[in-house]
Amino acid sequence: MHTHDRTAAAAAAAAAATATATATDATPSAREWWEARYAERDGIWSGRVNAVLASVTWGLPVGRALDLGCGEGGDVVWLAGQGWDVTGIDLSVTALQRGSRAAVATGVEDRTAFVAADLARWDTAERFDLVTASFLQSWPVEIPRAEILRRAAGFVASGGHLLVTAHAAPPHDDLPPELHGYRFPSPDDDLAALQLDDRWDVLVAEVRPRTAATPEGDAHEVLDSVVLARRTR
Ligand SMILES: C[S@@+](CC[C@H](N)C(=O)[O-])C[C@H]1O[C@@H](n2cnc3c(N)ncnc32)[C@H](O)[C@@H]1O
Repeated sequence: MHTHDRTAAAAAAAAAATATATATDATPSAREWWEARYAERDGIWSGRVNAVLASVTWGLPVGRALDLGCGEGGDVVWLAGQGWDVTGIDLSVTALQRGSRAAVATGVEDRTAFVAADLARWDTAERFDLVTASFLQSWPVEIPRAEILRRAAGFVASGGHLLVTAHAAPPHDDLPPELHGYRFPSPDDDLAALQLDDRWDVLVAEVRPRTAATPEGDAHEVLDSVVLARRTR
């Protein structure tokens, strides 16, 4: 984690300690919920790059990348391994620490920065050649996802790409009943959220099926909503 993020990280860590105690509250904040989720066990995701990101970035010239809701950093570390300079943002300090450790273990720490922040408020003057959000969805606790995506488009440099990958349908069968009303986004939903103007070319807006493993290790099909756009100027 970068030095300038340490204060925020320490504050978030203190909040995270509280979070564990309060995660069963009726209305935990998104940060508390995710912190408690990551505290459940080490490595809740695979640590591997998301398939859509790997396929979409194939052949793109490397540059500066921003990963929104980077979790444990699988995409950050992979992109850095391809030569990108990558900043990963997430609410959870626990997840970011895992990402940071993975970057060191892979020898790409010089090309990675992990920042603890709420994307609803985080801002930067920096512009990126690639802004990516893989499964930036928080169905147990709502986040202003549309607003976050709209702001994310503003972080893309002229000539750069914006990639939004989302679960277009439940990724597993065991969603608790209170979440059955959650609306999984379609590519059109995400395009509507992004409000891209005539400076953008939409290159991909489609649902892609993918074979994934259940927690028990069985193969099953999931649906990814994929929106890829290029900022022309
Ligand atoms: C389903 S996980 C995806 C993680 C990672 N992108 C991946 O593909 O493995 C969603 C992530 O978004 C993060 N997140 C949710 N709301 C956020 C917000 N408002 N600001 C920053 N991160 C957020 C959560 O902490 C969580 O790590």
